[in-house]
Amino acid sequence: MQVVAGTASTALGERVSRELGNVPFGLPYLKRFPDGELYVRIGGQLEHEDVVLVQSTRSDQDVLELLLLEDAVRQSGARRLVVVVPYFGYARQDRVFFPGEPASAPTLARHISLEADAIVTVDLHSSETLQSFQKPAVEASGIPAVARLLRQRPVDLLVSPDKGGTDRARRMAQLLDRPWMALHKQRIDSEHVELQLPAQVPISLEGKHVVIVDDVISTGGTVVEAARLLARERVGAIAAACTHGLFLRDAFERIKAVTDTIYSTDTLDNPAEKASVAPDIAQIVKQELGKLPAR
Ligand code: R5P
Repeated sequence: MQVVAGTASTALGERVSRELGNVPFGLPYLKRFPDGELYVRIGGQLEHEDVVLVQSTRSDQDVLELLLLEDAVRQSGARRLVVVVPYFGYARQDRVFFPGEPASAPTLARHISLEADAIVTVDLHSSETLQSFQKPAVEASGIPAVARLLRQRPVDLLVSPDKGGTDRARRMAQLLDRPWMALHKQRIDSEHVELQLPAQVPISLEGKHVVIVDDVISTGGTVVEAARLLARERVGAIAAACTHGLFLRDAFERIKAVTDTIYSTDTLDNPAEKASVAPDIAQIVKQELGKLPAR
């Protein structure tokens, strides 16, 4: 088995190779042609090998790189190809909302499936997108990774900033054996939200260590508002934790100004304190390879 990582996932790809038992790890050679077209080339011997290709799709270039790398792996004579997309971009456009739009996430899922034997991703915006992959597809959760990190820290309460994140906060709370609550969120526009405490707050908040848990931190608007609301309740310390830390523009600095710690998993490169999803991904990769027919 070998692990190959695209430019969006080099650090995580290497961690996955270690978790798979220090299997060989390779980075492709990339360059741009004078007209701007992307060129990729994979070194090493992949013939008859099981290959795990790791590449998040945060940008359009990441998507193209992934599709070209999948074909390069196939052309190299690999036996089976497991594609790992730690952060699956375009996930929010998971259906046609207005006439004339594409269903972007299903479209990407279909194209990624073309050369893959199995796909592994982490905390999709909507788990329904899994149905659009045309090969076996598994969604890992970032929650256990963050919980492993939080187990070593003081935590009194897990907080979801909205109803949609209830399951995540509840699961984290179960793993840490702590209470949880979900705030009421009303989105004003793409960068602004209004938040309120729920009618029933499970513990007195004053002086407590609270952790806001979200799947994605994008502009930071949600977490900043949640932190301000909790600060007004005189909590003792506030942490923000997410699976996918996009931290667009000055989001990281704005969150840092209103929290004590920022945690994210390593599905994306960012300056937060990291909880690695590599063990969770490696476990699923082994499990999926075990189910695939030997070629
Ligand atoms: C919303 O449904 C998601 O769970 C996140 O809360 C949201 O995407 C975060 O976005 P932002 O950081 O821009 O507020």
